[in-house]
Amino acid sequence: MRTKFSKDEELIMLHTILDNLREGINVVDEKGTLLFVNKASAYYAHSTVQGMVGEHISKFYPKAALIEVLKTKRSLLDVKIEHDDGRKYIVNAVPLIINEQFRGGVATFRDVTEIEELSQKLESLEIELALSKVNDAFDPIIGKNESLKEAVIKAQRAIGSPGGPRHAIIVGESGTGKTMFVKAMYYFAKKIGVLSPDAPFIEVNCAQFTNPDIAAIEIFGSEKGAFTGAVEKRGLLELANGGMFFLDEAHALEHYQTMLLKALETGKIRRIGGRKEIDIDVIIVAASTKNLKNVLLPELYQRLAQYEIKLPPLRERPLSEKEQLLKCFKENYEKRAHERYKIKLKVNFSNAAKGILLNAYYPRNIRQFRDIVNASIDAAVPIISDINSKSEVSALIDIDNIPFDLLECEDRCESEELEPVHIISENVENDEEVLQKIILRLRKKGLGPRKISNILKEKGFKIEYYQVAYKLKKLDVD
Ligand SMILES: Nc1ncnc2c1ncn2[C@@H]1O[C@H](COP(=O)(O)OP(=O)(O)OP(=O)(O)O)[C@@H](O)[C@H]1O
Ligand SMILES: [Mg+2]
Repeated sequence: MRTKFSKDEELIMLHTILDNLREGINVVDEKGTLLFVNKASAYYAHSTVQGMVGEHISKFYPKAALIEVLKTKRSLLDVKIEHDDGRKYIVNAVPLIINEQFRGGVATFRDVTEIEELSQKLESLEIELALSKVNDAFDPIIGKNESLKEAVIKAQRAIGSPGGPRHAIIVGESGTGKTMFVKAMYYFAKKIGVLSPDAPFIEVNCAQFTNPDIAAIEIFGSEKGAFTGAVEKRGLLELANGGMFFLDEAHALEHYQTMLLKALETGKIRRIGGRKEIDIDVIIVAASTKNLKNVLLPELYQRLAQYEIKLPPLRERPLSEKEQLLKCFKENYEKRAHERYKIKLKVNFSNAAKGILLNAYYPRNIRQFRDIVNASIDAAVPIISDINSKSEVSALIDIDNIPFDLLECEDRCESEELEPVHIISENVENDEEVLQKIILRLRKKGLGPRKISNILKEKGFKIEYYQVAYKLKKLDVD
């Protein structure tokens, strides 16, 4: 039997439910003022519900998807947003329509920081597996004889010169393959005997520390009694002894730079609070998306940058390399389906889909290219419960399978000071069929001819709004 609740009681019940969700919830009015936040949202924002309601959402979530929803009055579903504190959320944000009137927006979001970290670890393991299987450690690196030729030669010199090994710096935009490259250097060093077969590879992400003192303890270790609660602990640099120490996101190195410099100069370290000097012999490779010359102490930069290796962004790599990457991602997908589920999968791409995938602009480079290719394949193949694993499954990836983000103008890119998405291929530009499909998809999203033509123009298509309107009419849409 249904118990009858009063309106007030129902409200309390709803609040209790919303407050006990792990998902964060934000509700804003048309101006972006927070009308409601649940406890999870306040927790993520390091604030309180009372402290947030009545304030503008950007104060707590500067990159909130809701801000865009208020601008466009359109939903944003399953978007990933990384906030400045490093936490990552998957957000669904929708317009709030009451009595057919636009009154603001509602967002629900969940924290995926840990999941992302785990998936990064998995990616790291996959890279290691690929590198450890081959004879020449640089073999799995696509472009080693083309756009990365110089980089590979430099890396081999840094590791293999008779006067070395030397430290090195790897610079490249996010997702250009820095981690993979550093690991290749490590395997190369083992292969040619510069490092012993059991030499350690220790990695530290300098941006992960919010407090430089904690960073120093992690890197240099500590002695019991050095500070309240201090225990005897070996630092990462000590653990890397005899091997390679990979300083990722090295632009975030803070004032412990001086300690690192001293360690490099003297070949000795002291744990925090310790007196004993410990001999240290490591190859340091620092990686960064930024020019380290402007952020590191000049002496430290000089020591590390004897070999400064630049990895080009995906957009500067030749088409042949992008094709190899596409092939590699596709084969990895097929291989995974077989290894994990014994499914014989055969993936092919239509010319139009291939044209778009190869020519799109990927601000997050190879990683993003790979993710988009994987998502496109996901969209074209049945899920495993619908597959009879004995038969062969073939899938043709067409333009409809490509995630919409790639086809849509990304305002978000501009806010991150990235260039907008471009599709610049000649053959794509002139392909009537591709154009029609994109127009139809944008139309389905509720966009009008003017907006559609603007988006297409930004992607390199030459099409005016009246031409879009004409095409829509011809296609019998509207
Ligand atoms: N030259 C390449 N050949 C084949 N795969 C590559 C190449 N470069 C990168 N990849 C793949 O792209 C993905 C991202 O590479 P990686 O993690 O090395 O980039 P990164 O520059 O370290 O990224 P971040 O800046 O986010 O740390 C990995 O899965 C890697 O296997
Ligand atoms: Mg990396």
